[in-house]
Amino acid sequence: MIGYKDNILMCEDIDIRELAEVYDSPFYIYSKNDILNKIRFLKDIFSSLDNVLIAYAVKAENNLSILKMMADEGIGADVVSIGETLKYIKAGGKAENIVFSGVAKTEEEIRKSIELNIKRFNIESIPEAVRINNIAKEMKKRVKCSIRVNPNVDAHTHEKITTGVTGNKFGISIKTIRENANLLKSLDNISIESLSMHIGSQMTDSEPFYKAILAMKDFINDVNSMGFNITDIDIGGGYGVRYDKNSSGFDFEHFKSKSINLLKEMNLNVTTEPGRYFVAESGALIMRVEYIKEELGRKYAILDGGMNDYIRVAMYDAYNDICPLVKKENVSNYDFVGPICESSDFFAYNRECSFIEEADYVALLDAGAYGFSMSSNYNSRPLISQIMVDKDKHYVIRKRQTFEDMIANEII
Ligand code: LLP
Repeated sequence: MIGYKDNILMCEDIDIRELAEVYDSPFYIYSKNDILNKIRFLKDIFSSLDNVLIAYAVKAENNLSILKMMADEGIGADVVSIGETLKYIKAGGKAENIVFSGVAKTEEEIRKSIELNIKRFNIESIPEAVRINNIAKEMKKRVKCSIRVNPNVDAHTHEKITTGVTGNKFGISIKTIRENANLLKSLDNISIESLSMHIGSQMTDSEPFYKAILAMKDFINDVNSMGFNITDIDIGGGYGVRYDKNSSGFDFEHFKSKSINLLKEMNLNVTTEPGRYFVAESGALIMRVEYIKEELGRKYAILDGGMNDYIRVAMYDAYNDICPLVKKENVSNYDFVGPICESSDFFAYNRECSFIEEADYVALLDAGAYGFSMSSNYNSRPLISQIMVDKDKHYVIRKRQTFEDMIANEII
């Protein structure tokens, strides 16, 4: 719910210019009710299935306040580090609703997760299965696991965020699982009750999802005939959002009529791990125009926020809308660039935008997912603040780092 009302950019009921007066630029804003709407929408999509865990992929945005919203709504967590686990629990989440994915789980992370009694490990390799089994044995426990299958289905998304085709480091191929079935069955301290997948992120076409679930269906029958008893399926995340408002987002209609129906037929307990979908469109990065620089026919809008605050454009050629806080009639074309000493530090080239000048503010829209969570101190720039907006109220959910915070762990 960030959008224009009478040419003024609003976040819920607040004129974003008011926020720019109160908080030091740059800063992130989030619309609380947009996140809640997305959560409720997705719950509704899955509502015809009996036993579903929606586990938020914490990596998309891990602010405690946002994790608390998830926990309060009964949303579980898909984590990839013990840090994410501890944050979700600190925010009020229950360990029994945590699934632990990721290719490099350390012994310490595994031990701590077993102690906490998380729901299950999503195993990404045979040596990991052996390691979890050994640790569980030492702790005299039997732990629940899922095998992350690489179904080799192309998700039709950016090459850097596709994860379910041969050649990605994620999951285990069907061939390897077959070859190691006896070894896996001999591991007495793990119980393999589930198969999981995650074929990619920012998918808009839901057909690959359907194809991958279909492949999993056949494979589950296969695995059961090898002597396993699979009761659960984890279909991963990947629901795309509308970064470009002329494009369509994830095709939930198709997903509901095909994938949900297929899942219903399969009659298994279902887990899904949405990350981006819950938070991307709720967030914006607000930045100040430091200079307008005109040079050899180009017009640069030089902003105070850079790729250290939002790296997705530099890293994935991502598209985000950039909007002035007040829309004027005249337009011009700008290169929106940041302060970092890298040519890849830009947000858009030659983008038409209503007229802006020095000391105006702009909003980089749909920046709520993989925005702050991928930010860094590059160029010795402190991590910026995060502000939550709830109707006509706003409050800080993360304070800006001070210079002292930034150097606190360094030793001279
Ligand atoms: N589950 C697993 C096992 C994952 O690896 C991921 C994302 C998710 C769930 C959540 O996917 P989502 O629903 O958010 O698409 N930094 C990249 C995205 C990387 C996604 C990695 N895995 C970006 O900014 O586009």
